[in-house]
Amino acid sequence: MQIAAWNFNVSSCVFTGIKEENLRRDFNIPKETNISIIVGFGYPANKLLGKKRRKPLSEIAFLETYGKPFDASSS
Ligand SMILES: Cc1cc2nc3c(=O)[nH]c(=O)nc-3n(C[C@H](O)[C@H](O)[C@H](O)COP(=O)(O)O)c2cc1C
Repeated sequence: MQIAAWNFNVSSCVFTGIKEENLRRDFNIPKETNISIIVGFGYPANKLLGKKRRKPLSEIAFLETYGKPFDASSS
C-alpha cells in the first residue's frame, strides 16, 4: 500500500506511538481487536527532496527462511 500510494504522491509512515483509548474512541475500534501498528497516509506538507540511502532489499528482507535473501527480480 505504501509503495502504491507513493506513485500518487501520497506519503506514509508506520507508527506505534499512539493513544490507544483515543484511537479506539475516534475510529470505533472494538476492545477485542488488537491494535499493533498504524499505517498513516497523507499528502506531504513539504516537498520531499533527495534520495534516502537505504540498504538493498536483499540485505534486510528474507524469503521462506531467515537468511535467504529476498530477490525481487525472481518473484
Ligand atoms: C514498528 C515501527 C513503529 C514505529 N513507530 C513510530 C512512532 O510511533 N513514531 C514515529 O515517529 N516513528 C515511528 N516509526 C518510524 C517511522 O515509521 C519511520 O520508519 C521512520 O520515520 C523512517 O522513515 P523512512 O523509512 O521513510 O525513512 C516506527 C517504525 C516502525 C518500524
